[in-house]
Amino acid sequence: MWKPPQKIRWTTGKGVVPDVATLRTSRLFAPLQVGRLTLETRTWVPAMVPWRADDQGFVTDNVLDWYGRFAKGRPAAIVVEATGIRDVPSGPLLRVGHDRFIPGLKRLVQRVHDESQGHTRLFIQLIDFLSIRRRPERDKFLNRFLAITPAHRENLDLPETTPDAQIRTLLGGLDDDTLKRVLSLREWQDLTIGARERVTDTHLPHIRELPDILPDLFTKAAIRTQQAGFDGVELHYAHAYTMASFLSATNTRSDGFGGTAENRVKLPLEVFHNVRKAVADDFVVGARILADEIIEGGSTGSDTQFFAMEFARADMDFLSLSRGGKFDDAKQPKMGDAAYPYTGQSGYECMPQFLSDEFGPIGRNFAATKAIRMALKKAGYDMPIVAAGGIHNFETAEGVLLGGVADIVGTARQSLADPDWIAKLAAGQGDQMRTCEYTNYCEGLDQKHKQVTCKLWDRLALDEKDVALSVDNKRRLTAPAWDAE
Ligand SMILES: Cc1cc2nc3c(=O)[nH]c(=O)nc-3n(C[C@H](O)[C@H](O)[C@H](O)COP(=O)(O)O)c2cc1C
Ligand code: SF4
Repeated sequence: MWKPPQKIRWTTGKGVVPDVATLRTSRLFAPLQVGRLTLETRTWVPAMVPWRADDQGFVTDNVLDWYGRFAKGRPAAIVVEATGIRDVPSGPLLRVGHDRFIPGLKRLVQRVHDESQGHTRLFIQLIDFLSIRRRPERDKFLNRFLAITPAHRENLDLPETTPDAQIRTLLGGLDDDTLKRVLSLREWQDLTIGARERVTDTHLPHIRELPDILPDLFTKAAIRTQQAGFDGVELHYAHAYTMASFLSATNTRSDGFGGTAENRVKLPLEVFHNVRKAVADDFVVGARILADEIIEGGSTGSDTQFFAMEFARADMDFLSLSRGGKFDDAKQPKMGDAAYPYTGQSGYECMPQFLSDEFGPIGRNFAATKAIRMALKKAGYDMPIVAAGGIHNFETAEGVLLGGVADIVGTARQSLADPDWIAKLAAGQGDQMRTCEYTNYCEGLDQKHKQVTCKLWDRLALDEKDVALSVDNKRRLTAPAWDAE
C-alpha cells in the first residue's frame, strides 16, 4: 500500500473515558431520526467485506457469526458489507441478485435482531461493479488478449496487409519501452495492470446500456432486502465501483450521463428514485459517496457538495461520506493478481494507517465532510451525514458530533478491533475497551480475499469451546466474548 513519505508513527488510546452520567447527556448516545426510523444512538458500523460468504454468494454460518458479534455490542446501526445486485458469479461476496438469496439474508436479519435484542438497525450496502481481469503474462496478452488494430501496423511502419500473427510475433520481440510506444495507453495498462472495464467504454453494448439496466437491478435488489427484513439499504456510490465511476469527474460519457456534474449525478439519482418508489415509506434509503476521490482529474469537495444537495433535494434518508479508494492510482499487481483499489494514495486516504504524515490516520475526511454538511445546512437540508475514518474512542466520536462534522459516527476498524466498545461505554466500563491501532492487518487480509480478522484478538483464547477458526486453522474468526478475555 502507498504510504506518505514522512512515515510518522501514530498511536491511539482510549482518550477520556466518560462516566455513565456524562454519557447519558452526550451527543453520541442521543437518538437520531433517519428517514422514518429512529436510531437509538449515533453509533454506526460501516460496511466491511469480511470474505465469509460462500462461493455462490450465500449467507453462511460464518456470516451470521460475524454480524452477530457486532450486534452483541449494540451499535445503533450496522451496514452489511457490499452485496452484489446481479445474478452473476462473484466469488465469496454476498449477493442479492435473485430471490434464492432471500432466506439466508432473513437469517442474518434475525441473528442481528436476536444478538442486539432489537436495539441495532440493519442496513445493507448494494453494489454494482464492472469486470476486472488479473494482470496477464506478456506472451499470453500479446498472443491472445490483444486485438490487433490498424494503429499497430502504423506504429510499426507495416503495410495494411500484414497478417495479425506476424504483428504479434513482432510485438513479442520488442523491449518494454518500444512496446509501450506501439501500444495505446489503454492496451499498455491492460498488459501491465490487467484489463478493467470503465463506464466510459460505451463501444461495449453492456456498458452503453448501464443507465437502462441499473435502476431496475438496484430496485429489485432493494425489494429483496426489504423482503428479508432489513431496515434499509445503502446504495454504494463510493470507491472504485460502477456508480462512483458515473459520479466521477473522469466520466466523459457523451450520452447525457457523463461530462457535467449535472449529467454525472443523473443515473445515481434515477437509481435512488426507482428504489425509493418501490419500497415502503419506512424503509431507509441512503447512499455512500466520496467526499473527495483523491485522484488526478477526479471529483473534489465542490462536486460532492453539488451531489449531496441533489440527493438531499430528492429526499434521501442519509448520506455516508468516504474518501478515495480508486483503481485509477492502484499499485501494479503481481503477475496473476488483480489490481486492488486501496493500494495507491487514494486507497491510503480511504483507510489511513498508523504510519502516516503530520495529519495522521484520524479524521482525514473530517474537513471535507463538515464542509458538505455545512453547505447542506445552509441550504436548509437536515439529511443525516455519516462520517468515518479513524474514529476510535468516545472523545473522537463526540468531537465529530459536537464539531459539526457529522450526525452519525461510523467506526469500521474500531468496531472490528472491539465490537463491544459501545456496550462497554454504555456500561460505564469504557476503560476496558480495546482501541484500533490502524495497523491495516485486516485490510491486508481483505486485499488477499482472506477471511478478515483483527490482529488484536485473532490469536486469543483459541482453546475456547466451539471457537470457529479461519481456513488456515490459525485465527479465530470473531472476537472473544468480552468476559472471556
Ligand atoms: C476489511 C475492510 C473491508 C471494507 N469493506 C468495505 C465495503 O464493503 N464497503 C465500503 O463502503 N467500505 C468498506 N470498507 C471501508 C470502511 O467502511 C471505512 O470507510 C474505512 O475503513 C475507514 O473507516 P475506519 O477508519 O473507521 O475504519 C472496508 C474497510 C475494511 C477495513
Ligand atoms: S487489524 Fe485490528 S488493530 Fe489493525 S487496523 Fe484492523 S481493526 Fe485495527
